[in-house]
Amino acid sequence: MADIAAAKKPIAGLQGVVVADSEISYVDGQAGKLVYRGYSIEDLAANSTFEETTKLLLDGALPSRSELDQFEAELSGARVLDSEIIDLIRAYPTDAQPMAVLRTAVSALGLFDPDSEDIGPDATRRKAIRLVAKFPVIVAAFERHRNGHDPIDPRDDLAHAANFLYMLTGSDPDPEDARVMDVCLILHAEHGMNASTFSARVTAATLSDIHSAVTSAIGTLKGALHGGANQEVMKMLLEIDQRGIEPADFVRAMLDRKERVMGFGHRVYKTMDPRAPILRRFSRDLTARAGQQKWFTISEQILETMAAEKGIDPNVDFFSASTYHALGIPADLFTPIFAISRVSGWSTHVEAQYRHNRLIRPRANYVGPRDLTYVPIEKR
Ligand code: COA
Repeated sequence: MADIAAAKKPIAGLQGVVVADSEISYVDGQAGKLVYRGYSIEDLAANSTFEETTKLLLDGALPSRSELDQFEAELSGARVLDSEIIDLIRAYPTDAQPMAVLRTAVSALGLFDPDSEDIGPDATRRKAIRLVAKFPVIVAAFERHRNGHDPIDPRDDLAHAANFLYMLTGSDPDPEDARVMDVCLILHAEHGMNASTFSARVTAATLSDIHSAVTSAIGTLKGALHGGANQEVMKMLLEIDQRGIEPADFVRAMLDRKERVMGFGHRVYKTMDPRAPILRRFSRDLTARAGQQKWFTISEQILETMAAEKGIDPNVDFFSASTYHALGIPADLFTPIFAISRVSGWSTHVEAQYRHNRLIRPRANYVGPRDLTYVPIEKR
């Protein structure tokens, strides 16, 4: 075979490179559409639940009532963490970054999973369900630990989103809050060949196990240019408020310094990210209900300035920041919430990768020196 890499220039950021066929989701960047398994994100946000959407992603079709009941029971039955994992979380530094905690705890889950090294389809599905079930329990347990409290045991009578909110505080969540969280989880569950999903697939393609693949994905989601953007948005809103600066002036100064305004822009969407208007409504309604309209107002002014100055639209992270803040969630849990949701998509992609596997192994265009002769250390 010809040596393709030797003749080719690298494609920066792999932009536009297609690495797999996929039946899982479709991101139409020109039209601003996102479709999971044929269903638009707007339709799923209006009518589905996170559990049903996860089942849809994993199986490729909407479940029947009995299939969904069974799936929900499997998920709620898999929530409890082994005492060893709770002990590990209790040993983590209380000032640890929650995504680093999640990455470490999920890696540790693999050590205790009965199917740990089995990468067959049945074992992988069992592990996927356990991972989806346990993510919120880990995040809530660490939130309790760092505030000096014992973790709150998950309840199996609450839905996934409601149980997460319950485990943060110990109180039954307001039904409206629980539904907002449920929809936020639907919106973040899957998004084509994004960076963290690609990480998961690269790891799975070596025939490594799903815990390893999902751990790779968490590390990738953590960065500020991917899932980490939502907490950076909140930092920006807080800074604008604390310094009493006009949002438009703040944004213009950032752009003058050639800085990125977090929560804006997207590699694929060249128009509005279809998840942003749904989150914008949540932000508007929840901040009003909490008497914290200022976060929505500041967000709107940032949005208008970005549109006028750069013509760049908000992405999923922008209005999720003020939405989660109005729910009383600390900013550094915003990205873990993204992970709580996206583990559904990652798991689906890991299964798909195993089904049609080929090692993912690109090339680099070598531009370094050649033909050097080794110089003994005492002569350098
Ligand atoms: N703030 C300011 N300018 C931005 C911007 C942002 N958030 N996003 C893109 N741009 C500008 C770039 O400066 C560049 O302008 P230029 O051509 O004048 O230099 C142009 O838009 C294209 O940006 P580029 O970096 O090539 O796009 P990308 O596809 O590599 O990057 C992101 C995509 C998401 C990494 C980028 O938009 C970004 O950094 N956004 C902020 C982080 C974020 O919200 N991430 C979450 C994504 S869901």
